[in-house]
Parts: sequence; structure tokens; C-alpha cells
Amino acid sequence: MTSAAVATNPPVRRLGDWSAARLRDLADEYETPLYVVDVERVRENAARLREAFPDADIDYAVKANSRKSVLETIAETGFGAECASAGEVVRAGEAEFSDVRYTAVNPPARDLDRVVEYADDNEITITIGALDTLDRLEERGWSGTVYVRVNPAIGAGHHAKVRTGTDPKFGIPAGRAREAVVDADERGFTVAGIHAHAGSGILDAEDLAAHRALVERVSELAGDIADAGIALDAVSVGGGFGVPYRESEPPLDIHALARATREAFTADARLGIEPGRYCVADAGVLLARVNTVKPTPETTVVGVDAGMTTLARPALYDAFHEIRSLVPDAEGRETVAATVTGPVCESSDVLGRDRELPAPERGNLLGIGNAGAYGYEMANTYNARPRPAVVALDGADSELCVRRETVADLGRLES
Ligand code: LLP
Repeated sequence: MTSAAVATNPPVRRLGDWSAARLRDLADEYETPLYVVDVERVRENAARLREAFPDADIDYAVKANSRKSVLETIAETGFGAECASAGEVVRAGEAEFSDVRYTAVNPPARDLDRVVEYADDNEITITIGALDTLDRLEERGWSGTVYVRVNPAIGAGHHAKVRTGTDPKFGIPAGRAREAVVDADERGFTVAGIHAHAGSGILDAEDLAAHRALVERVSELAGDIADAGIALDAVSVGGGFGVPYRESEPPLDIHALARATREAFTADARLGIEPGRYCVADAGVLLARVNTVKPTPETTVVGVDAGMTTLARPALYDAFHEIRSLVPDAEGRETVAATVTGPVCESSDVLGRDRELPAPERGNLLGIGNAGAYGYEMANTYNARPRPAVVALDGADSELCVRRETVADLGRLES
């Protein structure tokens, strides 16, 4: 990449880098709460990944953000899609991803039915995490191309709830992986690869060391499998590449990560990675307006129109998201220590505690950073609260890509 390209594709986009004036205009036009996703930034993130991993199979983990505009943007870059459900497989197919892989974790029958139906007209690879998934696929008349998911017994990530690598729910224990591959092969499946995933949010030195250890472990396993006479096309070392949620955190050095991965990767096969968050997190902002400002002895409670139903990550993982006042005179205001809360009657409904914010007033607009990954995806309708709208930006253009849900929508499925 040229130095000019580096300058236009920084390793991270901070909340402060978004134009406050533009975000105010969007909030006026589309109302709040509103997710904004910039597909140009998604392209930049994809380009940086491709540059760091020039010859790897890169499959986007659709679960991070499966809005149509995002999927179409990533499909155009040539990445494949890693899907966690039949729904994601169908959506990835509609977005015209060339390679679609379904990672079957305890797959419900309805998902297998739908995926096998999809496979009638489309290429698909299915990653199995339990041997009985093969029985269930055979029962449906499918014995195509599979990856075997290995439980590496190595975990990493930003929270215990997302460290899948040490959780027995995921994958076949490493000690039985070779046997599982041989079994699948003998049964007539084409075993094209093995796969492992340590967890989500790899950023610090400890997580990077875990990633490296995982790459070494799956490489060794691939060697054992080759010794058993089965040549694998690819070895996927999963996703999980982190992004800095705090402005004070440095970004992940993706080139250093790629170098470490290459050094640890000794398999005689293509390297596969499946990043989700890295592609989309800093391409998204959540906009919310202040409903209420309440000084209390402990803190100033700033109630906004987004909460744990809009962005579940703080409630679920104690995740930190930067919060910025987007008022035009933010710099001239005194700051207050604020607790930014949502409208749900639960004490977990807090988007940020102890934040120094320019004295918020009713109607002021706030931006919540890094909302592009696992934001809208995990939004829900608890408290009969409709989900927000999503607007996609591409250069100077903006387009509503998901309309705001209504109370009438919530009753749509009832008989
Ligand atoms: N591959 C597999 C098999 C996965 O399970 C995941 C994420 C990924 C790839 C992508 O990981 P990423 O690159 O996005 O870190 N809701 C949580 C994250 C859960 C991730 C689950 N698996 C959050 O908001 O932090």
C-alpha cells in the first residue's frame, strides 16, 4: 500500500473522527435512536485485512453485522462468508458471497433442513463441531464438503462469555480431531479443512499469545491429519481480531498479527481467517438523544432514548463504548460526571458510567462509538420497545437500510 493509501486508511476510526454536523443532520432526518454504518469504512477495513493477509482465505463472520448493505459491500471485496445459522446462510447467499461456510454449533433441525435446501442450488461448506452432525446431514441426503471444528483448549477474548476456545460446547476435542476427520472421510464427506476459534476481541499481549498458540496447535493437528493420508485444503484459525473500544487503547497492529500468524502456521494448506468485528466495529455509530437529566448526589443521570435493547453489549459483557456529545457548542460547556442510561426498568440498562460529558441538556444528541459490530445484530424488543432504524453512508450519500420498527410491527406475528 502506498503512503497516501495508508493516510486515507488509518488502522482505527475513533468516535471523534466522525463529523458531528453530519451526524446531527442524520439524526434530524431519520430520528433517534439510529444506527449509522459507513460502508466506505467497511471497505477500508477489508482492504487492510487483505493487505495484511494477501493469500489467506478471508471469510467475514456475518454475525457481527448482517445488514444487507454491509453484506453486499463485503461480498464485493471478494471475501467469503462464515455463517452461524441458516438465516445467515440465506442472507449471505442473497448478498452474493462467492464462498459460504456454515459453522454448525448444535444445529437445530430446521437450520440443517434449510442449509441442505440451500445446498441444492449453491456451493456450501459445513463446519461440523460434533460427529453426530454428520449423521444428521446424511439423514438429509447431504454428504458434501465439510470442515471439522476443533476445540483447541485455548481461549482468548474481551470477556469470559466470548472465550469459546476453552468451552466444550464448541468443536471436537483436539485429541479426537484426527479420528473425526478420518471418520468423516471414510463416510464419503470431503474434508476440506479444519477450523478452530479462540474467542472474540483479541487485542492485548496475552490474547495475542493465545492466538499464536492456537495457530501452532491447529497446524500440528493438520500435520497429524496429513500423516493419516488426508490432505487438507485449508486450516482456519478463526476470527476474533479486536478493536480498541477506549480512545486510550492503541489499535491492533494487524500486520504484526499477520506476521505472528504466518510464523506459527506450519500446515501444508491455505490459511483461513474469519474476522467479524474488525471489519465493521468502527464503521458504526449509534445516535441517541437525551430525554432526561437528573442531578443526584452520586452522579448526573443522563437518560437517553437508546438502551440495553438497542445496544446489548454494555449490559451483557460490561463492554465499554465511548460516548461523545454531538452538540455544536460541546467544547464550550463545562463537563459533568454522567451515567448514561436507557429507558428500560432494569439496573443493567446503562450505556456508560462515570463519563465526563459536556453538560448534557434535554434534546442533545450523543454518539456511541464502535457500534458497527454486534450492535443492531443483538438489538431486541424487550419492554415492547421497537428496534431502531439503520442508515448506511457511502461517501456523501446516505440511505435508509432498515426502517425503524413500530409498535404495530411487534404484534405482526400474533394470531
Ligand atoms: N468465527 C467464529 C466461529 C465465531 O464464533 C466468531 C464469533 C467469529 C468467527 C467472529 O469473531 P469476531 O472477529 O467478530 O470477534 N457478541 C459478542 C461477540 C461474540 C462473538 C461470537 N463468535 C460481542 O459483542 O462482543
